[in-house]
Amino acid sequence: KQEESIRPHRFADYIGQKDLKDVLEIAIKAAKSRSEVLDHLLLYGPPGLGKTTMAMILASEMGVNYKITSAPALERPRDIVGLLVNLKPGDVLFIDEIHRLSRMTEEILYPAMEDYRLDITVGKGSSARIRSIPLSKFTLVGATTRVGALTSPLRDRFGLVQKLRFYEVEEMTQIIQRTAQLLQTPMTKDGATEIARRSRGTPRIGNRLLRRVRDYAEVKKSGEITETVAAEALQLFQVDPCGLDWTDRKMLSVIIENFNGGPVGLETIAAATGEDTQTIEEVYEPYLMQIGYLSRTPRGRTATKAAYKHLGFTPPNQQMSLL
Ligand code: ADE
Repeated sequence: KQEESIRPHRFADYIGQKDLKDVLEIAIKAAKSRSEVLDHLLLYGPPGLGKTTMAMILASEMGVNYKITSAPALERPRDIVGLLVNLKPGDVLFIDEIHRLSRMTEEILYPAMEDYRLDITVGKGSSARIRSIPLSKFTLVGATTRVGALTSPLRDRFGLVQKLRFYEVEEMTQIIQRTAQLLQTPMTKDGATEIARRSRGTPRIGNRLLRRVRDYAEVKKSGEITETVAAEALQLFQVDPCGLDWTDRKMLSVIIENFNGGPVGLETIAAATGEDTQTIEEVYEPYLMQIGYLSRTPRGRTATKAAYKHLGFTPPNQQMSLL
């Protein structure tokens, strides 16, 4: 409930992702002026950057309804059929984790996306016939953390394919200030920046850290979030000054201490941290690569010099020069 009320509802309130906003604002204006529906849109990128929020904004800017679902909820063909036949002209249908659609569901989507048509097989065996049912023109917004896992026929049916990127510290600071205002939490600019620095460029994480820091400020301090209060609270919650948590540090220290900096296979890293390989690949690695602590090579993952330094180890080439 509270999550919903802090989401921005208009482009004007959505901070960051400038390239994406520019592209979408043009597409929206053009579609509106031609009285057409918006092209199907595929949003990809790490979790928590605002794909769902962007789809909701799109619908409200277009002045249409918005339906949300996710691929795991569309296992049986009748699930997607039910959603499609109930769409009104121009509606936005948002499918999260779209790379996980079942094959049957995906095949129903092809004619639906391309010709706004539902092809249903009636009867069995030699008497089977295909019946076509017209659908309202609609906009499919798909979201995925793994654009490479989409089949090409599905990917090719999106007119717009856009990536969300990690937010800069300055953008994260503005987002955290905006949320604090909505939560009526007193906070200094430096307090916001301290949380922003530890948010991994990810609004979902920043807003979550803000709530934890707010609790700490209210219970242990005067209630105001200052730089010191934020730093103390986040240290207590084991979020380090770069935003790395236990799993991030474990991943890097396993590579450094047990494998001499790598390369190390994904499976080994997953086993050492107790996370599954998918979570490591989609949640942890993108940020570690973004800040230059981890590299992916064909033979496995390696820790960079910067990672050695961050964890307080001496980088290997410096060890060499000491000899
Ligand atoms: N809350 C979460 N993401 C946001 C964004 N990009 N802009 C403003 N508020 C947000």
